[in-house]
Amino acid sequence: MHTRTRRTSLSLLSFALALSLAPLAHANDAQAPDGPRALPGSLPLIPAPAKVERLDGAAFNVRASTPVWASGEAAQRVAGQFTTLLRNSGGPALQITPGRGTHGIAFVLDPSLKTGAEGYQLRSQGNGATVRAATEAGLFYGAATLSQLLSGGSNGVLPALRIDDAPRFSWRGLMLDSARHFQSLDEIKRVLDAMAEQKLNTFHWHLTDDQGWRMEIKRYPKLTAVGSCRIPAGDGGRDPVTGAERPYCGFYTQDQIREVIAYAAARHIQVIPEIDVPGHATAAIAAYPELGTLDTPLKPLSEWGVFPNLFNTEESTFQFLENVLEEVITLFPAKYVHVGGDEAVKDQWEASARVQARMREVGAGNEMEMQSHLIKRLETFLEQHHRRLIGWDEILEGGLPPEATVMSWRGTDGGLKAASEGHDVVMSPVTDMYMDYLQTPSDNEPPGRPLTTPLGRVYGFEPVPDALARDKQQHILGLQANMFTEHTRSYARLQHNLFPRLAAVAETGWSPRERRDYADFLARLPSQLQRWQAMGVAYAQTPFQVELDSHDDRKAGTATLALRTPLNYEVRYSTDGSPVTAQSPRYSTPLTQPLPVTLQAATFFNGQPLASAASRFELSATSLLSRNDQQLAMCPGEGKLLLRLEDDGPADGERAIFNVNIFNPCWLWKDADVDGIARLHVRAGQIPYYFQLAHDEPQRTFSPARSAHGEMDVLNGRCDGTPLATVKLPAKPGADGFITLDAALPRSVKGTQDLCVRFTGDTRPTMWVLDTLTLVPR
Ligand code: ACM
Repeated sequence: MHTRTRRTSLSLLSFALALSLAPLAHANDAQAPDGPRALPGSLPLIPAPAKVERLDGAAFNVRASTPVWASGEAAQRVAGQFTTLLRNSGGPALQITPGRGTHGIAFVLDPSLKTGAEGYQLRSQGNGATVRAATEAGLFYGAATLSQLLSGGSNGVLPALRIDDAPRFSWRGLMLDSARHFQSLDEIKRVLDAMAEQKLNTFHWHLTDDQGWRMEIKRYPKLTAVGSCRIPAGDGGRDPVTGAERPYCGFYTQDQIREVIAYAAARHIQVIPEIDVPGHATAAIAAYPELGTLDTPLKPLSEWGVFPNLFNTEESTFQFLENVLEEVITLFPAKYVHVGGDEAVKDQWEASARVQARMREVGAGNEMEMQSHLIKRLETFLEQHHRRLIGWDEILEGGLPPEATVMSWRGTDGGLKAASEGHDVVMSPVTDMYMDYLQTPSDNEPPGRPLTTPLGRVYGFEPVPDALARDKQQHILGLQANMFTEHTRSYARLQHNLFPRLAAVAETGWSPRERRDYADFLARLPSQLQRWQAMGVAYAQTPFQVELDSHDDRKAGTATLALRTPLNYEVRYSTDGSPVTAQSPRYSTPLTQPLPVTLQAATFFNGQPLASAASRFELSATSLLSRNDQQLAMCPGEGKLLLRLEDDGPADGERAIFNVNIFNPCWLWKDADVDGIARLHVRAGQIPYYFQLAHDEPQRTFSPARSAHGEMDVLNGRCDGTPLATVKLPAKPGADGFITLDAALPRSVKGTQDLCVRFTGDTRPTMWVLDTLTLVPR
């Protein structure tokens, strides 16, 4: 639905900055998808299997009475998981029978098979289907494949076939940030279920950050007693009636962590804990101030961005970290322990005489080498405990022990360098693998960075760089999607961000490179949507909705309506108020319609509607004179930090969302028809500036204010030169948080032209945002 949440009251807004500023050059240039096109013989499976052979012979019809056979504890366990998954995916409820019959479905664990650590074989013909594997993990993945074949619209009809399957990569991961926002155990388990269904096998759990320490450590109880609560910025952190602080808290007890690990292990998912050092450490330092470098006390932070607070470099702090890791490795059986290492701006270390003295003591020539000294120390500790260190690619700076594994997030160059030097690498570049980025240009996206990382871009990511020498390619362990949660207050948003993009990650992680085909993937995706619906996975609607670009001809009283949908599925529409069905007219070229008009449109694949409701647009001569920030472009210029920000209140429930460029609050109406337009009305609001941008803050530019509180300037389409109109801004907006500014346009402004609206002045700690821009006729 083309709806937009607009609260009338806006007092304070909180910003959510999705971490580092380094990779902002991320282009908004996802390859335009061609749309769905099934390859010959394609089966509705995601990820696509390595090898499928269709056989002559009768199909096997699975019904509720079809027996499921399994011998031995492990095979019976997998058979049980299969029947549960199939039922949850919308397929029939089957019963397990111990032993082996001649008809039905059979699971066979046979260690003599050459199916590898995670591979399996699936054979089906008229009287049954058999899954065989050498390992329980392989059998489990065969069960996942069979469940997909029998659900998602297949009606339980299994063609005669042979599948020989095994994954391309051993690391097929998802990182979840439980520090910025906290997820319940139940939510985490549902994510693990969805991962397993897609054959993902690594859950990287980001448990500590500036805004919260979320893991119980018995030896240091204040880490959670103090470090697990923050006071959300602005309205969200206050009781609306009393004004009292409303903390946002949450941590996982060690018992709960064991429960998550066991739940994941049953689904063949390893859980990798992350304890982030030496930066992203504010919550820990708030709990134990002696770990930091400052004399002033800190609190877990309520703002987003990059902060200067680092662990200090005392021996006692290293000991603390080792003690924490000792509890971590006692809990987590995984081979890898993640120690972060990202975004540790070294200002505090540079300013601290004690750190400088310690650097001389340990022989570190600069702060990078000091960080490297710490990482090596933790690496040695982990090695002694038979674990391996993994960290973000910054750990390469200042030197790295050869056993360390690098997670490449600032693009793939760090991963390329690390693999070339012989380190193992997991690729998770911010440009392709960050699920906190928006996935479409739709109004209906949740907050996040408005630079989009659409499904096609995620799908197109290739983890093995072309430039990597052949003999080093085995160092690429795989890939990982990262889900940072500054913007992700709810489980609904988390699901929106993860699905369907996680399916693309899963396919890249599992399927052979030559089997990956985006158009075919799109043809397989609608079956997966049906499974997700059955499983209760609330995948993002936006990729399956219809967007409208309208162009009005005010003199003729008509609008030309161009429809698009992000993934190029078939679009059908109605303009007469009737519901859109698979029989409605199919959209191909822009429609010219007299105003007013109600347009409804929806996407379909093989007659199946893909979104839960049709998109609906009501257009009139009046509505076409207004645009909101979302429908406007950002102004040209330097330093683009585009964010999609939400109001900081209410504490629970819906909040207004705005698109802003915090480096340049300026919006552009392209091709505005300004003939006969006398004035512009701009509804604007003021929001707080809740960012820490570290060394990037000076990049923020302000057009200088020319009066006490700055101005709203209306400029030409290049947003330069003498303003066409100017309105002085008040100190504050009105009681509802908004103000409507009225600017008279000179008569010389006519025809069709671009109009730019910008706010001047350094208004920190607040800034102006544009809500709507309305053209007012003479
Ligand atoms: C990261 O995004 N700072 C790893």
